Amino acid sequence: MTSAASGCILLLLGPVLLSAEAVDDAVLDLYRTPREGSLSYYWNLSESQRGTCFQWPEPAAGKNGVWTSVALPVVSSQTFYDGRTCGMCIEFLHTDVGRGPRYLGSKHGGPEEHQPPANERTRLFVNNACGDCEYENQMDVSLNSRKGLWQATWVAVDCEPDTTPVQFIFGRGSSEHFIGLQARNLPIPVKGIEYYHPINDKWYTMSQGFTGMFKFQATETGLGWPDELLKPPLRVRVTSLKGQALETNVSRIGEAFEVIDSDPPIFFEGITGDAPTGSCTAVEEASRTPCGPSDVASLSTTHHCAG
Ligand SMILES: *[C@@H]1O[C@H](CO)[C@@H](O)[C@H](O)[C@H]1NC(C)=O
Ligand SMILES: *[C@@H]1O[C@H](CO)[C@@H](O)[C@H](O)[C@H]1NC(C)=O
Repeated sequence: MTSAASGCILLLLGPVLLSAEAVDDAVLDLYRTPREGSLSYYWNLSESQRGTCFQWPEPAAGKNGVWTSVALPVVSSQTFYDGRTCGMCIEFLHTDVGRGPRYLGSKHGGPEEHQPPANERTRLFVNNACGDCEYENQMDVSLNSRKGLWQATWVAVDCEPDTTPVQFIFGRGSSEHFIGLQARNLPIPVKGIEYYHPINDKWYTMSQGFTGMFKFQATETGLGWPDELLKPPLRVRVTSLKGQALETNVSRIGEAFEVIDSDPPIFFEGITGDAPTGSCTAVEEASRTPCGPSDVASLSTTHHCAG
């Protein structure tokens, strides 16, 4: 499976049809409703291919308790939601253990040693979009040493940023005229960032880019040069997917992708807490749609899920 290098899938996207509220609800539903889907693999991200979310290297939230990172589909049964899932953690359960060897050599399954961890909750961190994930609820996992398409039941859960506060990175070309800003290392995705301009004493909603960054142009203030300039410290208000809003400052405009701690440090609440709200028992066996021809429904897939 191939996932998008940063930016290059923009052309595949049609107009956004869902309202902002409908998208929020769809993203929240990933926490409420476990999905029966599949897991495939693609290459390792790197400095030249940081993924569409620009969350490589991953912040603490994307490392603590996390197996590896994952790309979600922008096609078919898409769950990427224009980057609104960037920074989300997912737990999956691979129970259809027998599939790999049986489908060896075909598109489904894969060599036994490439199967994901079986019968145990395994956590992934969303940091990319997958442009050719055509299977329902497919997840494309970044691990270039493995192959195959595997059964996986999954649900979104809180990440664990632990004691590391919210951090910021700037996109390429940020300056006092234009900023692309990302807030990261929350337990759940970011919904929005507002910027406060001190000269006209006004909060502005930064516009969301597909790339996991929020953008603002100095000219949007209408103040004219030089009053319009975006001078650090930048006073910002970050709102999480859950709607919790916290104010902090970004001390300077960093180089592209340089990590800057929130100052004062801010920490957000999660949604699910330690125990995921859903387990795969919530997915009716009859409505499970495994990734290939399989007798998954006859296997005992439910009793492992709550464990
Ligand atoms: C890809 O990432 C995995 C997990 O981090 C690592 O074990 C593996 O060595 C990496 N492969 C390459 C070619 O860097
Ligand atoms: C951010 O910095 C501004 C200006 O220095 C200050 O007035 C404000 O209180 C700071 N915000 C927080 C949350 O500390």
